Amino acid sequence: EEPAAVAAVPQAGDPSLVLLRRVGTVDPSSLDDYRAHGGYTALRRAFELGPAGVVREVTESGLVGRGGAAFPTGRKWQATASQPDRPHYLVCNADESEPGTFKDRVLMEGDPFALVEAITIASYAISAHRALVYVRGEYPRAVHRLRHAIGQARARGLLGDDILGQGHRLDIEIRRGAGAYICGEETALFNSIEGYRGEPRSKPPFPVEKGLFSRPTAENNVETLVNVLPILTKGAAAYAATGTGHSTGTKLFCVSGSVARPGVYELPFGATLGELLALAGVRDRLRAVLLGGAAGGFVRPDELGIPLTFEGTREAGTTLGSGVVMAFDDTVPLPRLLLRIAEFFRDESCGQCVPCRVGTVRQQEALARIAERTGAAAADDIALLRDVGRAMRDASICGLGQTAWNAVESAIDRLGAYT
Ligand code: NAI
Ligand code: SF4
Repeated sequence: EEPAAVAAVPQAGDPSLVLLRRVGTVDPSSLDDYRAHGGYTALRRAFELGPAGVVREVTESGLVGRGGAAFPTGRKWQATASQPDRPHYLVCNADESEPGTFKDRVLMEGDPFALVEAITIASYAISAHRALVYVRGEYPRAVHRLRHAIGQARARGLLGDDILGQGHRLDIEIRRGAGAYICGEETALFNSIEGYRGEPRSKPPFPVEKGLFSRPTAENNVETLVNVLPILTKGAAAYAATGTGHSTGTKLFCVSGSVARPGVYELPFGATLGELLALAGVRDRLRAVLLGGAAGGFVRPDELGIPLTFEGTREAGTTLGSGVVMAFDDTVPLPRLLLRIAEFFRDESCGQCVPCRVGTVRQQEALARIAERTGAAAADDIALLRDVGRAMRDASICGLGQTAWNAVESAIDRLGAYT
């Protein structure tokens, strides 16, 4: 079978890697090989620490969510673990759908046992006996490898009724998405699993209180969970020594577009955008970089000194999101690119609330008018875009509508698109 995951990791084999260290060197179908590469030492450590000890380590590590929102993982686990209502659930969000994002796919295909071990630890920490992985429907290889890994772990007593003889009980189920971007929003994902339309719910209540089947649920992204392994094997303090005060550890970046070596890169938080692009071999005549995906924003070539941290990107008026870095040289027609992004949001809006349902259509129409005029924008088109963008940001129920105008706004304000 074609080793797709390795092909997407230009740094494969580099000994300084943490999250990607096994990708390309471990046999993703072999539990024995995973163990020979250090697998299942973190779970043993978790059992020594006990559930509260695991939550404490994760909290002290400073780990924040890698799906894009950077919520503190320890706080989320503590809040779920402390709910008296039962049962508790652990849901792994593997519905990676942000355009340009493919890091979770690489982890699941290249090192599936790592995710299974991490889910086992997270479930133990929050007292969940059932965990679900919701995998993007377009990732059949990831599903196949995860399913195989779960079966192997179950057969060897690493899942099931009495894991490693420690009395913890857990089963992991896989659910597949069916192509809807919105089902990656955590509450739409719950609805999808429960058999309802994939529409986001209003928050609060947050999932830690009322999540899957209205029970306390910790929902974590694949990359977030995999970080728990180095946190437990190295210890929270050693883990937090990498990165910056507010962004600890390493981050996976998905680099694509006008670069010589596209792929998933792992760097300590704090490296600059320019350093990352140099690794990927940025081409000449760079025009813009889209950071954080379609919901993120554009930055200019003179802004490559931006530190790749959650706080650094925020201070620079942009976002790290889930780690998307798309480079565009000056052969890419910006008006067409912005129109494509607007079409994406129009198509993926679930239609539940008016600002997003109508706003994404009006935005796309305005951008289509501009693109037809080969990029020249009438002042009233820009005014309309700003009006609609503000309404979507302020009044939409979920992140899709709230961020659907980010990329267009940054292109107008930072890149001077259409001028
Ligand atoms: P959010 O900020 O509403 O929530 C983040 C997480 O923290 C959620 O799990 C939420 O339940 C939890 N949370 C927030 N406040 C809480 C509280 N007071 N108590 C307990 N838990 C709390 O963000 P959201 O809408 O879940 O995610 C938005 C992000 O998703 C964006 O940054 C975007 O970059 C990213 N995204 C990622 C995609 C991908 O493919 N990885 C696709 C689309 C968006
Ligand atoms: Fe649906 Fe858009 Fe409203 Fe989110 S903001 S609930 S995607 S219509």
